[in-house]
Amino acid sequence: MIVGVVGSGLMGSGIAQACATAGYRTIVQDTDTGQLEKGKAGIIRSLGKLVEKGKLTAVDQATALRWLTFTSDQGALAECNLVIEAIIEDLAIKNRLWAELDRIAPAATIFASNTSSLSIISMAAVTSRPDRFVGLHFFNPVPLMPLVEVVRTVRTSAATLETVFGFVRSLGKEPVAARDTSGFIVNLLLVPYLLDAIRAVERGVASVPDVDTAMRLGAGHPMGPLTLADFVGLDTLARIGDIMFDEYRESRYATPALLRRMVAAGLFGRKSGRGFYDYRQEPPVPEPLGI
Ligand code: CAA
Ligand code: NAD
Repeated sequence: MIVGVVGSGLMGSGIAQACATAGYRTIVQDTDTGQLEKGKAGIIRSLGKLVEKGKLTAVDQATALRWLTFTSDQGALAECNLVIEAIIEDLAIKNRLWAELDRIAPAATIFASNTSSLSIISMAAVTSRPDRFVGLHFFNPVPLMPLVEVVRTVRTSAATLETVFGFVRSLGKEPVAARDTSGFIVNLLLVPYLLDAIRAVERGVASVPDVDTAMRLGAGHPMGPLTLADFVGLDTLARIGDIMFDEYRESRYATPALLRRMVAAGLFGRKSGRGFYDYRQEPPVPEPLGI
């Protein structure tokens, strides 16, 4: 099986790494050549760390790198049996891509979206293959997070589901079945928590590092919620909040004003170097944020 991954940002590069490590020939496509370079460098760094920690052999690392191709040419995806999309969380942009891919990919090719919050059928419906369209929702950082939510729409066929469940298991990951509702399982619960943590900072409940420390040491979370928000990407989190609010009309999904202001200021979190923390120095320091 040849896997195509569209988008070489945080998620696309992680998904591509997981596929190549499992022995799939993997074609990574992005419109931005700078991002392709960044994605490739991230994969090389991540594989290096796994070798250092004894979780991967140097031979497997070299093999994984050989399975990967990076390209800005969308036409290269025409030979893929499975295409996984991990581009910006925007329905209009994703659907433009799906319509293009539907024209170039063979009829048997399965399409999968890694969307965090959009409904899968709203994308499947613009293609000629809604029966071969699923959600495959991976978690960040993909090389370390074992879960994948497998999302079946009202049109996904049983054969497609069987193929993708097998595929997820072949990556060494644990699939869980989720219905096609905004946020699936994890984000339905995780996103309001992250947004509430931002609201707590807005209301002056505690400082950014104290909210993080409290949830790490008081609730046993591996990362505090503001560190995690920076890790997800604040631009992506704001888009997810808007989409989930639009779907559920519940205030817990509403994107807080502070998050909007930070995105407007270009503070996108770890990937841009600054968010709730400034990552340009080690260890990172809290951003003043005018609060
Ligand atoms: N590849 C390879 N190695 C990596 C890595 C990567 N991408 N990222 C981190 N590591 C390594 C670190 O370098 C570190 O190595 P050393 O032990 O040699 O230092 C090791 O993994 C462990 O990292 P940490 O020391 O930071 O330790 P940790 O125990 O905190 O593990 C973590 C890291 C797994 C990321 C953990 O902090 C964690 O689980 N955080 C929460 C992540 C989470 O909730 N993700 C979901 C986000 S939401 C989402 O994805 C859905 C959505 O739609 C928005
Ligand atoms: P990102 O901003 O890091 O990367 C997006 C990439 O898509 C960029 O490299 C961009 O150049 C590329 N791109 C945009 N339009 C394109 C197009 N038409 N064709 C090809 N490439 C294009 O974003 P991300 O964090 O990797 O998120 C990608 C998707 O995964 C989103 O749907 C997001 O909701 C979802 N997701 C994100 C996380 C997370 O923690 N960040 C976790 C799970 C799922």
